[in-house]
Amino acid sequence: MIALPTPPTLSEPSTMVKTSYLVGEQADMLHRGSDTTWLRGASHDFDSFVADRVGVRQRWRVPSELFWFTSGEYYIGSLVIRHQLTSDEGGGHIGYHVVYPWQRQGHATRMLQDALVKCSALGIENALLTIAPENTASLTVMRRHGGIADGVNDEGDLRFWIKTLAAS
Ligand SMILES: CC(C)(COP(=O)(O)OP(=O)(O)OC[C@H]1O[C@@H](n2cnc3c(N)ncnc32)[C@H](O)[C@@H]1OP(=O)(O)O)[C@@H](O)C(=O)NCCC(=O)NCCS
Repeated sequence: MIALPTPPTLSEPSTMVKTSYLVGEQADMLHRGSDTTWLRGASHDFDSFVADRVGVRQRWRVPSELFWFTSGEYYIGSLVIRHQLTSDEGGGHIGYHVVYPWQRQGHATRMLQDALVKCSALGIENALLTIAPENTASLTVMRRHGGIADGVNDEGDLRFWIKTLAAS
């Protein structure tokens, strides 16, 4: 197991983790059988790639913020916080992934913990997560933070509310 220089934190996207980001995302995409062509543009001009992702941006028609879970030069995964829910509440408040080489080391569990603290600071007292019923890993991560089930959305994803104040 690689020893990280410090415990990873949710940080704004940064060029500091360029190599680790590109290699990690490429490994993850190949593992999932997903298209990797977007990595060509990202590796060609990583400065612009990062600049386009920093700060609160209007995405899915709501204010959203992207974080990278990093330690020093190491990139581990990404997490998005929607400051408001979309009209159909699809995707919930928090979405995340840990790239394949870093999975099953507790990173998603810690990443979600940090995200709940950020949500609490934004005034979100209950954060909505939507998870595909077959996504055992994400369901485990959610349950570790005490999610309360709230039915199924139009896409067939399960809905869960997590109290953010309990996390701080
Ligand atoms: C879901 C995901 C973020 C979990 O990341 P992770 O860093 O591996 O999660 P953790 O290490 O905190 O694991 C939590 C627990 O889930 C379970 N788990 C993790 N991966 C699993 C897998 N592939 N199969 C079954 N259970 C799994 C394990 O119980 C694990 O704990 P353990 O290894 O101590 O037993 C990661 O698998 C991922 O990015 N998947 C693709 C994107 C995604 O599904 N995002 C969530 C959308 S709601």
